Amino acid sequence: MNLSQARAALSDARRVAVLTGAGISAESGIPTFRDAQTGHWARFKPEDLASPEAYFRDPALVWEWYAGRYRDVMAATPNTGHTLLAQLERQKADGFFLATQNVDGLHARAGSERLVELHGNLTTARCEVCGHIEDLPSPQDFTPPPVCSRCGGRMRPNIVWFGEFLPEQALQASADAFAAADVALVIGTSGVVYPAAGLAFETLERGGTVIEINPDETELTPHLSFSLRDTASKGLATLTEED
Ligand code: OAD
Repeated sequence: MNLSQARAALSDARRVAVLTGAGISAESGIPTFRDAQTGHWARFKPEDLASPEAYFRDPALVWEWYAGRYRDVMAATPNTGHTLLAQLERQKADGFFLATQNVDGLHARAGSERLVELHGNLTTARCEVCGHIEDLPSPQDFTPPPVCSRCGGRMRPNIVWFGEFLPEQALQASADAFAAADVALVIGTSGVVYPAAGLAFETLERGGTVIEINPDETELTPHLSFSLRDTASKGLATLTEED
C-alpha cells in the first residue's frame, strides 16, 4: 500500500479504530516511556514506580512520581495530533473509536468522546478501600496521598500498573472496534505492551487495513499495511487533509 492508497482507505472507511501511545503527546512536551534519552524508562525502572509491589514498598515515592507527572500534564495542552483525531471522530461519527494507552487525559481535553483510556488516567485517584474514583485537587492544592471523600481511605493513582488487568469492558470494546474496523490507525506507540499492542492484529486478521504513524520503525511495523514515518501531528495531517 502507498500513501495515496492509505489516504483513500481512510477517507472511504466507514469504521475507523485508533490506538495511540505516548508519542502522540510528545509534541505537547510530555516525555514518552522508551525514548533512549528523555523517556521515563531511561531514568527509572518500571518495576520501581509502576507496579503494585512498588506502591506497597514505597507509596510516597510512587505518589511523588505520579503527582509530578500530573502537574506536568495539567500544564500541557493538546496538540494538533489530538485535535485532528477529534476532528476525524466528528467525520466518522459512530463509526469511530479511539483507544489510548496514555494516562494524560489530552484526548478528552481535545474533544475526543468515543474514547477509552486503557491504562487509566493521571488526573484521577482510586480509593484503596471502597474503589471510589475521584478527580485530584488542582495541582497547586494537591499534596499526595489523596483521601477518599466517601470513606476516608487512602487513594492510589488510577493507573493500570504492570502486572494488573486492564479494565475488562474497555478492553472488550476496543477488541470489538478493532475487529470491526475497515481501517485502524496505530499512532505513537512502540507496540511492545500487550494487550494494547495486539489490537492491530484484530483488524488485520479480518482483512482490514492498519496504518502506522511513527517517526521510527516499531515492533508492529513489519505486520502493518502501511507506515508513515512522521510525527503524529504531521502524519495525521498528511493522511486526513483534503487535496
Ligand atoms: P513508548 O515510549 O514505548 O513509545 C513511544 C513511541 O512514540 C515510540 O515508538 C516513538 O518512536 C514514538 N514517537 C516519539 N515521538 C513521536 C511523535 N512526535 N509522533 C508520533 N510518534 C512519536 O510509549 P507507549 O507505546 O505508549 O504503560 O508505551 C506503552 C505503555 O508502556 C505505556 O502506556 C506505559 C508504558 O510503560 C504503563 O505505564 C502501564
